[in-house]
Amino acid sequence: MARSRAAKRTVTPVARILLKEETLDPSFVPPRLVRREKELELTFRRYREALGKGLPYHLLLTGGVGSGKTALARRLGVDLERGGRLGGFPLKAAYVNCWRRASDRTVMLDLLRTVNVSLPDRGYSLSEMLDVFEQGIRRQPQHLLVLLDEASSLVRQETKLVYLLTRSHEVELGSISLVLIATEDLFPYLDPASRSGFGVTHRLSLAPYDRAALVEILAARAELACRPGSVDREVLDQIARIAAPNGDARFALELLNGAAHAAEDAGADAVLAEHVRRAKGSLLPTVSESQLEALSTNQLGVLLAISRTLKRRGGSVTSQKLRVGHSALLEELGAPTMSRTTFWRTLKELERDGLVTLENAGTGESSQVAMDELPASYLSTLLEERLGRGRAGKG
Ligand SMILES: Nc1ncnc2c1ncn2[C@@H]1O[C@H](COP(=O)(O)OP(=O)(O)OP(=O)(O)O)[C@@H](O)[C@H]1O
Ligand SMILES: [Mg+2]
Repeated sequence: MARSRAAKRTVTPVARILLKEETLDPSFVPPRLVRREKELELTFRRYREALGKGLPYHLLLTGGVGSGKTALARRLGVDLERGGRLGGFPLKAAYVNCWRRASDRTVMLDLLRTVNVSLPDRGYSLSEMLDVFEQGIRRQPQHLLVLLDEASSLVRQETKLVYLLTRSHEVELGSISLVLIATEDLFPYLDPASRSGFGVTHRLSLAPYDRAALVEILAARAELACRPGSVDREVLDQIARIAAPNGDARFALELLNGAAHAAEDAGADAVLAEHVRRAKGSLLPTVSESQLEALSTNQLGVLLAISRTLKRRGGSVTSQKLRVGHSALLEELGAPTMSRTTFWRTLKELERDGLVTLENAGTGESSQVAMDELPASYLSTLLEERLGRGRAGKG
């Protein structure tokens, strides 16, 4: 009797929790932007007013990681596309993610595709490409809203494209408007000629989400993605509390996704606090690109030395061995040597930023240096690329 009941229990199908997981994907554009209604309304109005008069409009959209920049920009694009003709022309939004290795040319190739023109990857100068681009727009008269996401490295590389796009409004048959999106304020990096298009009313900075906002965002998304009743308010609040220090909605949604998976894997029919904890433990800690960007060259060098040493050696390394590795690295890079004091101070700074841990600290040379935050191989690639680029830039 007891045995048959147990057998019965094991075959009872567990109700799924994630019914529409795709709605938790970062590329999903949510139908409603919680707590960003004002910003969306304002930018929507500004674009419509300008374009209605036949004038392009440009916006610099900034905010921390997961503050909803991409979501806001994409939502704006969709809403403007649906909003009807402006000054006689329809609007089309063209989204390009410029993350890493982006150059004016690769971005331009993407943009050409959005106006249904394809060019071979070589042999054309940027201004030739721009001519072809404008011809493409003339063939299908329209306002083009170009959304350049993660535009930091593009703009820091002294892009000419931004200038050309902000100036090419004499297309006659429509206009080209820009939204530049980045975690940092790009205004200082724009050349003086482009800056005129990004005056104070053309800059929008998104504040980090607070805990209450994160709860609302999570609740709205859980409603779309999860079976009704499978995620209660307490769990949402727990996730929001974890994500609140950075105000990062992306991290919050990743946690929700991870917790729901953990619950499904455990055969539970609802997400519980322990599933959230499990998800938090297994998610890669997010050392953001902007955090790495903020590090000094000294710090980057020491981090790279750690990550190279750990890649070979495992869990931790003595600061003495690390210093030997670091000196070799500096030599390899042709950089000046670093004094013991500076080296030690840099290590302490990295410890303070939570990037490394020092054990038996105090006696200097005998400390064990560890880094659990990131896989060494990943960091190594990232940092070598950055240092390489930094040197190339200076040279
Ligand atoms: N106000 C909001 N309402 C609903 N969902 C939101 C809101 N803000 C952000 N999200 C969601 O949170 C996630 C992260 O947002 P988004 O990708 O827009 O952040 P971001 O600022 O572009 O971050 P990053 O700097 O890392 O690119 C996305 O899944 C997005 O849909
Ligand atoms: Mg983004």
